[in-house]
Order: sequence, then C-alpha cells, then structure tokens
Amino acid sequence: MNAPQRQSAPDLLARARALEASAPLEAASYYHQARLADPACLEAHNALERLGSDHAYGKWMRVDSVIDARDDIYRFFEGHEGVTNPIRDYLADGWRTLSELMLLLEREGKPLTGVRSMLEFASGFGRFTRHLVRVLPGRVTCCDVLPGSTDFVRERFGVQAFDSQFDPARIAWPGRYDLIFILSFFTHVPLHAWPQWLARFDAALDEGGLLVFSIHNPGYAIEHSVKLDDQGGAFLRSSEQSALSTEEYGTTFATWERVRREIEAGIPGARVEIHPRTFWVAQDAVVVRRG
Ligand SMILES: C[S@@+](CC[C@H](N)C(=O)[O-])C[C@H]1O[C@@H](n2cnc3c(N)ncnc32)[C@H](O)[C@@H]1O
Repeated sequence: MNAPQRQSAPDLLARARALEASAPLEAASYYHQARLADPACLEAHNALERLGSDHAYGKWMRVDSVIDARDDIYRFFEGHEGVTNPIRDYLADGWRTLSELMLLLEREGKPLTGVRSMLEFASGFGRFTRHLVRVLPGRVTCCDVLPGSTDFVRERFGVQAFDSQFDPARIAWPGRYDLIFILSFFTHVPLHAWPQWLARFDAALDEGGLLVFSIHNPGYAIEHSVKLDDQGGAFLRSSEQSALSTEEYGTTFATWERVRREIEAGIPGARVEIHPRTFWVAQDAVVVRRG
C-alpha cells in the first residue's frame, strides 16, 4: 500500500508506530516516507533497520547501521552545513576511517588483517567500530567514557567493551593489545595530561604492538588563527561532546616538537613517526613503538 504524500515526518512516524506490531510492511513504508521527509530522522532510520526493510542501509552496507540517538558525532553530521543526508554521511565516514587506517598500517608494515588483538579507545557510539568488526571479528575491544556507549557497541557489534575513567590511573586494562587505535582523543585532551595517558597506553601494549593516535595537524591551528603558547601548545575549552566537561575535554593543538616531547615524557625512548593529514581533513597519525 502506498503511504500518503506530503505528510509531515511526525505524522508519518505516528502512523508507522501505530502499525508496526500488526502490519510491519505497511509500517516500514511509512517509516521510509518519514525518512524521505526528514533525512535526519533517526527514529525512522533505526526502525527500517529493525524491520529489515529493503530501504535499510544495513542491507547494502553489510554492517549494523543502527545509530544511537545519544551519539554526538552523528549530531555533528546532522548539524553540518552542506550535509544533505547525515545518516548516510555518518555511516560512510566510518568506512573512510577504515580505509585511512588500513593504508596507514600497510605503510607501517603491520596490515590490519594480521592484528591479533585491537583496542579501539575512545570508540564513542561506534561510528568506526561497526566497520572494524567485519575485518577483525572477535579481536576488537572498545572503551569510552560516555554513558551507555560501551553497552551499545557490545550489544550491537559484538565487541568486548569496558567503561573508561576520566583519570587514566584508574583504568584497569582487561588485556594487552597488538594495536591500540585512538582517533580524535588527544585532539581534545589538555597537553599536561598527555604523559600520564601515554604511559597507561604503553602499559596496555603487547610485545611488538603499535600505538596509533591522531592529533590536529599544526597547520590547522594556523588556518584557524589559533595562537600556540611558547611551549608550542594550545587548549580551547570547547568541543563537540555535550556530556563531557570542557576542563578535561576541549580542543587541543600542538607543534610536532611538543607532541614528541610529551610522548618522550610518557613513554621514554619510544620511536615515533608522524604522518601528516592521514585522518579526516586535518588529523595527523602518530605511530608509536617502544624503543
Ligand atoms: C571526537 S570523539 C571520537 C570518537 C571516535 N573515536 C570516532 O572516531 O568516531 C572523542 C571520543 O573520546 C571519548 N573520550 C573522552 N574522554 C575519554 C576518556 N577519559 N576515556 C575514554 N574515552 C574518552 C569521548 O567520549 C568521545 O567518544
């Protein structure tokens, strides 16, 4: 049956909800209409996934495509000027991270497919995780501090997951990892806290393991008129995460010299390589090996 034309998304959603238990096919048609009327409508999107509709993204992306309404990274896409399909862009963005990481690891001589165990730290609500688990089923552990995020990734994507802490000293690692990957966490953590975080990640690294994290490219600070202090760093008290205090989680910039100094302070003797603009528009990849 065809859904009526030109109804508002809330009206279409109300019809869909009322029909879902008794007539799921008809409900899916209304959910589809609702998402056409409002391309950012997560309720309609998640219902289409749940109902296994032909319009579900999961059918052709072949990843679990449910998006958590608490996910501020999704909200970033939703609010971004010029994004006409935030759901698709959000899902595609995780694919992009996968390809960026795979290319980096190839260059480093440590292909992702051969990684024995991986910690994705600061995994959020699984923007990237859903794609990663297809490559490393049974080998991924996630960790984040956002309430509900670790339950979400564990239940949806079948990874192991545990809650983080704001104080790195309080984190008890459940294992040691061949690869620790941390995308866009050090871009938000104040520089004075880096050595302690880095020392903790070093403690969770397996023999021969690799620590990979991202930083803002120093040129990005210049492009955005951010003034670095005489130690080559800056910390701005603003971020995209509504649930986190801007004292502990803001926006961080540093020169490569400053980055190297903080790594040396946290992991003395570490070997460090920095690959410019590897992730997203302006995040450099930092690859750290024990010395
Ligand atoms: C910019 S988001 C990136 C999320 C994810 N890595 C991605 O690529 O989509 C930064 C993440 O760092 C997480 N985070 C902040 N403080 C944390 C902490 N103390 N422990 C673990 N994760 C933390 C935030 O909750 C958020 O999910």
